[in-house]
Amino acid sequence: MENLKSYVNQNKDRFINELIELLKIPSISADSAYDKDVIKTAEEVKSRLEKAGCDKVEICETDGHPIVYGEKIIDKNLPTVLVYGHYDVQPPDPLDLWTSPPFEPVIKETDLHREGAIYARGACDDKGQLYMHVKALEFMTSTNQLPCNVKFMIEGEEEVGSVNLSKYVKENQDKLSNDVILISDTGMISKDTPSITTGLRGLSYVEVEVTGPNRDLHSGLYGGAVANPINILTKMIASLHDENNHINIPGFYDKVEELSQEERAEMAKAPFSLEKYKKALDIDAVYGEEGYSTHERCSIRPTLDVNGIWGGYTGEGAKTVIASKAYAKISMRLVPHQDWKEITEQFKTHFESIAPKGVTVKVTPHHGGQGYVTPIDNIGYQAASKAYEDSFGKKPIPQRSGGSIPIVALFEEELKSKTILMGFGLDSDAIHSPNEHFGLFNYLKGIETIPLFYKYFTELSK
Ligand code: BES
Ligand code: MN
Ligand code: MN
Repeated sequence: MENLKSYVNQNKDRFINELIELLKIPSISADSAYDKDVIKTAEEVKSRLEKAGCDKVEICETDGHPIVYGEKIIDKNLPTVLVYGHYDVQPPDPLDLWTSPPFEPVIKETDLHREGAIYARGACDDKGQLYMHVKALEFMTSTNQLPCNVKFMIEGEEEVGSVNLSKYVKENQDKLSNDVILISDTGMISKDTPSITTGLRGLSYVEVEVTGPNRDLHSGLYGGAVANPINILTKMIASLHDENNHINIPGFYDKVEELSQEERAEMAKAPFSLEKYKKALDIDAVYGEEGYSTHERCSIRPTLDVNGIWGGYTGEGAKTVIASKAYAKISMRLVPHQDWKEITEQFKTHFESIAPKGVTVKVTPHHGGQGYVTPIDNIGYQAASKAYEDSFGKKPIPQRSGGSIPIVALFEEELKSKTILMGFGLDSDAIHSPNEHFGLFNYLKGIETIPLFYKYFTELSK
């Protein structure tokens, strides 16, 4: 494409400043105190899509946060790319661990990002990555090089489970019709090893509540004589893994796809340094399911993790008490073919069955979604591969990720098209953690790679 590199280079300061402005709005979807900011962000995304050349942009109300839809249809006979992204972000806490405030973006140099990285909540997940698509569109429209039709669907509830987006997709199949879905909301192996994400894990997220006596009790007067809900809950949770870190829920592995030795050998070729991995996390050993490598444990294997646990006295000093209730939030990451609703049921049945007499257990499902694998023998993947090859000078490696974007499986079901996951983040970007950042190199490379996808996808569609 003509002038692609020079256009990005000439406009890079503006691209960075525009993203910084977007990052200043705290669009935290989980916390209703930020509802106004969420709407403000949606309006901002709308106006930027208009400026970048979309013909029609609208804010679509839902029962939750709005969806921004935009399109530029140049010719009904040409293919259509549907871009999905999310403008909502995770809550930033714990705030005291940030080296600069989460909604006051700053550029800092790091060992990895000598040219700088933008530090802010949402810098990588997903405002930075969705904005690459807006700027890629600006390049194509302003230089008259948009080769096909484009639609944008940017939601504000990804971080809370995309509950209302499912309904929107089901009700707007014609409007959203497309030939390929393009998403940048994942990562790549490293700055000099581009990769394309070919799989996402599914998810089942549940909350459990264990109730013992009807009130908090004196732990001296009653201790030892009644079931302590916190003791029981931790025991029950501990029993969910066996000594090989295999998950102990009947039926849990029934539908898990076992990869062949050839496939596992192919996967193992992706560059990975265990030493660097441990060093980056400050741990002296990795931990996980027997018989699988670290990379396999967080891509092709399902997991069960406690995300939060509470109950009893946690304030200053000591209070001698047996709490009436104990709670935990538990997530299960699933792999293709495991059905998240079935897994949720299996968890509930099992967890209730292991509760001893003296307590009652309540399991409340939160949200979930199916995993996703995309084949590499389709023109979407091939177009993406050629795009990376041009911009990075290297063929990208296909790789499954451990994260989840639950809506992707629904896209395939409802819209009947494949999703291509062109992510430009790095594991070290600290998404969902304090000090989230996005390398300027990654941001600008993304803007440079995306138009090439459009070009090759249109060519290969002929
Ligand atoms: N963008 C992430 C998912 C992701 C990140 C996938 C990196 C692969 C690599 C997304 O915003 C996210 O955080 N998803 C949630 C699930 C959601 C239901 C809250 C997740 O994976 O925890
Ligand atoms: Mn995301
Ligand atoms: Mn996220």
